[in-house]
Amino acid sequence: MVQISERDIVTIGGVLNDSARPLKERFRALFTLKNIGGATAIEQIHACFKDPSALLKHELAYCLGQMRDPAAISILTDVLEDLSQEPMVRHEAGEALGAIGESSVIPLLEKYRKDLTPEVAETCELALSRLRWLESNGDAKQDLQKNLYSTVDPAPPMEVTDVSVLRDTLLDEGKSLFDRYRAMFSLRNLGTTESILALAEGLKAGSALFRHEVAFVLGQLQNEASVPGLQASLEDTQENEMVRHECAEALGSIATPECYEILNRYLDDSKRVVRESCVIALDMCDYENSAEFQYADTLTKLPTA
Ligand SMILES: [Fe+2]
Ligand SMILES: [Fe+2]
Repeated sequence: MVQISERDIVTIGGVLNDSARPLKERFRALFTLKNIGGATAIEQIHACFKDPSALLKHELAYCLGQMRDPAAISILTDVLEDLSQEPMVRHEAGEALGAIGESSVIPLLEKYRKDLTPEVAETCELALSRLRWLESNGDAKQDLQKNLYSTVDPAPPMEVTDVSVLRDTLLDEGKSLFDRYRAMFSLRNLGTTESILALAEGLKAGSALFRHEVAFVLGQLQNEASVPGLQASLEDTQENEMVRHECAEALGSIATPECYEILNRYLDDSKRVVRESCVIALDMCDYENSAEFQYADTLTKLPTA
């Protein structure tokens, strides 16, 4: 394994924190810091929360959650409590606090489950459900993290494998968000065309938070069957920008010629988050289609949120 010095980490952090650099380079620096981990990497990520890009900041919070280092709890708490941060950034901070999995944040999440921004309130509710689930499922805690995508998900999958039962739960607005998320991750883990098409129906159901998570999961699946649904939501300028952002990035990870074409059309969108997502998504397309990716598997997939 290559040894990385503190100085190297600070240099990579310098790229992340340099607003004159192209966004895609800063994202790549962020993923590198996430993979390195440790106090210095966390410090470099922390410094970037003053950036004006909501897209970049939400990714900082996502990465801190995925690193699962309790040292990031105070940083994420500040971001969740900072009402000047965009809803998308505060949402990701709440989710990250749930991902780290420490019960000490329960009182904080209890407070913000009543936040005036629905995305933030729902996220805190979900994170609370996840933490309570972890508390009452002891050993299952380990299994929760094991999925094909190596991500820490906001809810564990259900044990059910029947697609029609899972689809009904996914689309049932009378069920709790936690159960609907559990159905979502089960459908993802099945990964069949039928389960992917059921998921795509979720792009039109429920809250903005729910729809953005469906788009995220479709991005993980990288299946062409979901392109029409993702395209429709990206093209719908009335749709919540957090959902449109996630659709753009999902198209970036599917990376077919059609995805390039769609994404190129939204590089000038009126919403900054959507424009920037298309830039990052096109970089993801290049990555998926790069020679390194096809001929070697030493690189990790870009873990965007
Ligand atoms: Fe998110
Ligand atoms: Fe995101």
